[in-house]
Amino acid sequence: MSNDLVGRLFFIRTFGCQMNENDSEKIAGVLAAEGARPAGRAEDADILIINSCAVRAKSEEKMYSYLGRLAQMKARRPLLIGVAGCIAQIEGDRILSRRLGVDFVIGPDEYLKLPEILARTDAGPVVAAEQVAAWQEAPPRLLARQSPISAFVTIMEGCDNFCSYCIVPMARGREKFRPLESIRAEVEDLARRGYREIQFLGQNVNSYRDPDGRADFARLLAEMERIPGPEWIRFLTSHPRSFGPSIIEAMAASPRICRQLHLPIQSGSSSVLARMNRGYSRADYLGLVARLRERLPGLCLSTDIIVGFPGETEEEFLETLAILEEIRFTSIFSFRYSPRPGTAAARGPDDVPLEVKRRRLIEVQTLQKRLQTEFHRSLIGRTLKVLALGPGKKDATAFSGRTEGGQVVNFRAEGDVTGRFLDLEIIGAGPYSLRGAPASLPS
Ligand code: 5AD
Ligand code: SF4
Repeated sequence: MSNDLVGRLFFIRTFGCQMNENDSEKIAGVLAAEGARPAGRAEDADILIINSCAVRAKSEEKMYSYLGRLAQMKARRPLLIGVAGCIAQIEGDRILSRRLGVDFVIGPDEYLKLPEILARTDAGPVVAAEQVAAWQEAPPRLLARQSPISAFVTIMEGCDNFCSYCIVPMARGREKFRPLESIRAEVEDLARRGYREIQFLGQNVNSYRDPDGRADFARLLAEMERIPGPEWIRFLTSHPRSFGPSIIEAMAASPRICRQLHLPIQSGSSSVLARMNRGYSRADYLGLVARLRERLPGLCLSTDIIVGFPGETEEEFLETLAILEEIRFTSIFSFRYSPRPGTAAARGPDDVPLEVKRRRLIEVQTLQKRLQTEFHRSLIGRTLKVLALGPGKKDATAFSGRTEGGQVVNFRAEGDVTGRFLDLEIIGAGPYSLRGAPASLPS
């Protein structure tokens, strides 16, 4: 332990996906192991790290506007400012050239070296963004987990798919897989500590291959399912191209793997999908959904949609609306296409006008809101198993939880039910959440 960090207060602001959330826990763990402590608010921190996403231009803009605010804070008092995450990897020293008071830029493969990098900032701003081809194991004690109930466990990082719009293969590098034995050790440890839910994490979990053995993703699921403890197991993100029958069978064989999948479709048009280099057609995706639903009745599917990809015609866009209606996803994330540096699509024109992208996004979201409301209403009167995640900040009796399908349920409870599985009767439904009440006991 170096003395420099003992007693110093850090604050991490995270923008982006679960992978970034998980990385922020890793960064917090590295700093805490050196004696630093988390600050409750940005205003109190000596070290402020922005862990930011680079997937869409919007997240980059958000980060720069936050940095602008921090620069004002730094003008009033001593403060070390760092930028981490995909954006740090992609932008590197260009972040320093904006002169916003950033002291260090640190890419995702360098987090374990953070104490050393912080020490080097005495001599001026530091950029550390080397990429490492092999899996790097973080010592388990370095993870400072936010939730005592549900744990993310990273099983792979990076991506080899090179979808033509996507910056991830550049920001996170090629696929690298965590050894099965180290995943097992972490899950066993989480089980001992009473975690109720495990969520396996990776950009493309289906392509998992144990670097030290022969296990593939289906095998990994089967092995993890045997570890007693956490009642629910989930994973994200899945790629439709690599979702083979053995994974469907592993899910079907397990009562603990949740009937829920995040399966990004991106577009409902085969011609757009080909231009995106997604490796499947509209018919392939529909076929996969049919096979999944046959083997996994009640499966909840969520997805990602991009509107306004280069060259997207009105007919192609209508195919996206039609497939949303046909599949009826239980939730979606939808985005306007934005060109990202270094990607294949960014070499061509970004030719769908902004007004058209905006209108298409609203159409997607309006349709999805109706579909979700209909789905949620269909659940009224049913009793669902809900994992209670915790009370609200203002009202200790107002709880929020999640169903196996991933729906958010708000409910009232006397006493602290956090971390418990409850049977709740669904008594209300909106587009984004459900309302539940303790199920009446059978008379
Ligand atoms: N523009 C818009 N959306 C994008 N995504 C990835 N890259 C882009 C881009 N350049 C979306 C995809 C992906 C999600 C994480 O972000 O839908 O699944
Ligand atoms: Fe990006 Fe495609 Fe890889 Fe997902 S599968 S991270 S969209 S390149």
